[in-house]
Amino acid sequence: MSDRYQEFANSALGKLVIKNLGLPMPLELERFDPNKPLINGAVLLGAAPGSTLGGPISDVLNTVHADTYAGNHAALQQAAAKVGLNLRPYNSGDKESRFKVMIFDASGIQNSEQLVELFNFYSPVARQLLPNGRVIVIGRTPELCSNPKMATAQRALEGFVKSVGKEFKKASTAQLIYVAEGAEANLESTLRFFASAKSAYVSGQVVRVSAGATQKIDWNAPLAGKTALVTGASRGIGEAIARTLARDGAQVICLDVPAQEADLQRVAGEIGGLVLPLDITASDAGQKIAEFANAESQSKGLDVVVHNAGITRDKTLANMKDQQWNLVMNINLSSEERINDTLLAEGALNANARIVCVSSISGIAGNLGQTNYATSKAGVIGMVHSVAPTLANGVTINAVAPGFIETQMTAAIPLGIREAGRRMNSMSQGGQPVDVAEAIAWFASPASGGLNGNVVRVCGQSLLGA
Ligand SMILES: NC(=O)c1ccc[n+]([C@@H]2O[C@H](COP(=O)([O-])OP(=O)(O)OC[C@H]3O[C@@H](n4cnc5c(N)ncnc54)[C@H](O)[C@@H]3O)[C@@H](O)[C@H]2O)c1
Repeated sequence: MSDRYQEFANSALGKLVIKNLGLPMPLELERFDPNKPLINGAVLLGAAPGSTLGGPISDVLNTVHADTYAGNHAALQQAAAKVGLNLRPYNSGDKESRFKVMIFDASGIQNSEQLVELFNFYSPVARQLLPNGRVIVIGRTPELCSNPKMATAQRALEGFVKSVGKEFKKASTAQLIYVAEGAEANLESTLRFFASAKSAYVSGQVVRVSAGATQKIDWNAPLAGKTALVTGASRGIGEAIARTLARDGAQVICLDVPAQEADLQRVAGEIGGLVLPLDITASDAGQKIAEFANAESQSKGLDVVVHNAGITRDKTLANMKDQQWNLVMNINLSSEERINDTLLAEGALNANARIVCVSSISGIAGNLGQTNYATSKAGVIGMVHSVAPTLANGVTINAVAPGFIETQMTAAIPLGIREAGRRMNSMSQGGQPVDVAEAIAWFASPASGGLNGNVVRVCGQSLLGA
């Protein structure tokens, strides 16, 4: 769907009008292009004294051939040299250099006084981040810190990152990654995602990396040989998810209601996928999916399950019919629970399978006219949190919570509310279906075994529920 305001804002006349009136300026977001380097510009790396993640961070930067700079920091130099990363010197007085990514290892911060290290690193270079830049702070999971002072200081990082996300503008993003002790090897998939254009519409997010089993992969085809089921795949976000997972090498089973079969055939045909016309609310839906995957898929089971199908039936509570409540709850939540239960019970999920759910910021913030929808989507978050610790065999469950994404669903929103939804975020624009799809592909990766029970918003740092 076209965003006329954004088109106008990027014209010569629009730029002038917007500057003079102080209106939001939605810069065009850079999105992933396989023909460009994953990190498309220089990286500035820093660390608080006593930090321990310099090695794993340098390792990732080395693998992606990042042009990396650091100030005079002996421990970082040593950690980088050990993994073969050529850390180029950055002189702190240099105001000319520009950086695409600024990464700070905050794992050494032990107490609130030491939080000044964040300020010392970022304040002098705050004007030197390029448009579409990335600020990434990496710390230690507060709940796992044995010392309360350290837990307090690590938790404080969240406020810093969320403020930077709102302050730096120019389509830049800011994220916080907490790495549990012993989970250092699992940092790679998350650092790659947040440092790249794949996370264009994700900002102000906090991710916890834990010590799950992570497999070595070909980063150009992370899902090669894998089979992924995507529900609601005939259009909108589901179609983008199917295309993105196929791009990453997966064979995709495209599922949607039988009435959507023609569109489903089109999408599946274009990506070499399989077609499964099925209503997920059918009592035997889980069984049918398990049988289909077993009989038709290349991996004789499922490696990725994406619960994307969802509907809205907006009405204020006083005007809502029980049918509107029941339908939304059944499609958006109960059917997902039933399908998961059956797939797990039937052994239809292969080892290290990934379940990825689509929630909504409405499930976090609540929304007028959406008691049914918000309840179902908050339930999806509850499901992710409660099911994650029960999974075995390397299986994980995570969710994305989209904000305003340009699809048929949001095109149906009345103009005034639609404009507010589009602009009330750090990017001053709606996201594209591919932005949600990229986040799902990151969770779906075999290299994301350290992500379990996470909920990440794809909302351009929307003000709703933040
Ligand atoms: N568009 C947004 O801004 C936005 C924001 C937050 C969350 N979401 C969520 O993202 C997901 C996709 O949304 P979208 O905007 O692409 O919506 P959409 O309406 O364009 O697509 C949803 C798809 O789900 C399918 N579906 C519905 N009921 C089904 C059933 N019983 N069985 C099988 N398939 C069924 C539909 O046929 C449709 O193809 C939904 O879960 C939605 O709640 C969307």
